[in-house]
Amino acid sequence: MSVAIIQGASGSIGFALAQHILRHTNLSVYALTHQPKSQETELSERIFQGSNIKDKERLSVLGEIDISEERGLQDAAKLVEEREGKDKVRLITCMAGILHAEKSLSSIDPSKALRQFQINTLGHLLTYKHFVPLIPSKKNFEKLSSEWSSSGDPAKGLVHSRNSLCLSMSARVGSISDNERGGWYSYRASKAATNQITRTLEHELINKNSSALAIGYHPGTVITSFTKPVIGENAKPDPSNGRFDLKQAIDKMTNVMSKAKRHDDANEKWGGRCFDWKGERIQW
Ligand SMILES: NC(=O)c1ccc[n+]([C@@H]2O[C@H](COP(=O)([O-])OP(=O)(O)OC[C@H]3O[C@@H](n4cnc5c(N)ncnc54)[C@H](OP(=O)(O)O)[C@@H]3O)[C@@H](O)[C@H]2O)c1
Repeated sequence: MSVAIIQGASGSIGFALAQHILRHTNLSVYALTHQPKSQETELSERIFQGSNIKDKERLSVLGEIDISEERGLQDAAKLVEEREGKDKVRLITCMAGILHAEKSLSSIDPSKALRQFQINTLGHLLTYKHFVPLIPSKKNFEKLSSEWSSSGDPAKGLVHSRNSLCLSMSARVGSISDNERGGWYSYRASKAATNQITRTLEHELINKNSSALAIGYHPGTVITSFTKPVIGENAKPDPSNGRFDLKQAIDKMTNVMSKAKRHDDANEKWGGRCFDWKGERIQW
């Protein structure tokens, strides 16, 4: 069975992505959350709510995985390998992100700034440290794909049939060249650093002949509890201006995920880059 790792599965976008994968692919989902273990069953029930999925074993919720500490991620990766075997991870998505929105230097709080780096940046790096080794090499991927059953690629087009994928939630404000307005010092810096991790991970994936590529993703403005303090409680979707409800956001995101592929053409490189919801590259 091929596996998708959703780090941050109780957050708005992570939760909706877990639901999408269970409904539209044959991948198994490991839904990692920093919520307490006592919430695992409730989260699992909420993810299945409204669907008629019979095979409930395709979802495993793993609670108490706070990505500011390495241990939980290490144990989770070990568990996935023990249960699924080697070379079974096809998709890793790092959703974690917190925002302390400073307007000016006077509101910088070192402990809040550091916490953003721990979650938004280092947390993604540690997730990759423990889960990337479970992604098949190119050679093993070819062998595994030749053994796909008659129903074909279990990712069902969510991930390109020739590769695996590592995706980090970035943000347009992480782009240094796009910074025309200032503000949000530490969130911007943490996302810029996440982009650097994506780029560096891509080099390691190539050097190690991994079947995966690494991309960053900016989802636009998605109406979630994360953005409500900024855009207001009553904000409405406005897709032509890049503001989405969760369903629209997942449609855009999965569309970009499905297009991301290794390509020989230098103009069409996806790996090690950051893309927005239109599938357009965001300059660093
Ligand atoms: N919403 C937007 O418009 C927007 C725009 C640009 C970028 N983004 C990025 O998209 C991502 C998801 O945003 P969202 O709108 O879904 O926000 P959200 O609902 O607030 O989700 C926050 C995410 O952070 C995770 N998280 C927080 N603290 C954690 C910790 N200590 N350990 C592990 N995970 C932790 C949560 O996962 P668990 O609770 O399951 O652990 C959840 O996935 C973030 O990285 C955000 O920066 C969002």
